[in-house]
Amino acid sequence: MSRLFPLIYDRAMEPLERKSFRRLRKKLIAAAEGSVLEIGSGTGLNFPLYRSNIRVSAIEPNPAMAKRSSERIAQSQAKIQVFAANGESLPFPDNSFDTAVGTLVFCTIPYPEVALQELRRVLKPGGKLLLLEHVKMEQSVLAAVQHVLTPAWKVLGDGCHLNRDTLSKVKDSGFKVTNAEKYHRSLMLLIEAENRKPASINPEGLLVAEHYAGAGIVTE
Ligand SMILES: C[S@@+](CC[C@H](N)C(=O)[O-])C[C@H]1O[C@@H](n2cnc3c(N)ncnc32)[C@H](O)[C@@H]1O
Repeated sequence: MSRLFPLIYDRAMEPLERKSFRRLRKKLIAAAEGSVLEIGSGTGLNFPLYRSNIRVSAIEPNPAMAKRSSERIAQSQAKIQVFAANGESLPFPDNSFDTAVGTLVFCTIPYPEVALQELRRVLKPGGKLLLLEHVKMEQSVLAAVQHVLTPAWKVLGDGCHLNRDTLSKVKDSGFKVTNAEKYHRSLMLLIEAENRKPASINPEGLLVAEHYAGAGIVTE
């Protein structure tokens, strides 16, 4: 886990956010409903976009990223709590959430297939998965360039892969993809998917996550 990455992330992202990502984030988050899980919430760039009637439980494994999201928690109209956890082992009972959100995160999660199964578990039957991801491009030459650059990029980007085929992984995990929009010559994908699973009894489960701090405010 890089210490430098959290320090430079917001500044490095700002030109891309201004040019395109902010608009795509707004579009994605507008589709979130009810009880929301956001995975790998980072510095909280999505937090100000949630509406006031949304309750967000966010997980973020890097405490330095989570700490930087505290101001954005305060700016948000929604009630947001950030938990120290990773996507492959979610500290929530089955069938807990109406919506799961991930932005620029399936490029980095070490075991994306495991995280997708965890999302299927904690999402209610019929629950929504909303992703905004950079992915392996369709054009074969560009995809080959992404593949070659990935080992160096992983070092610079704190584990980020340029060559993940996230849409296939979402489909293979059992989600039903209901919308997939391509942007920037298929580099960026906005994915909406539905959790197809039989309804089951919501087991009584205790929240086992360590919350970073009270009232959603992150501290060291
Ligand atoms: C490129 S940043 C994206 C942050 C944020 N989602 C955004 O849109 O700006 C990737 C994030 O994934 C987090 N991450 C890394 N491994 C993870 C895992 N196993 N589960 C969940 N998140 C993880 C990182 O700590 C980092 O905050």
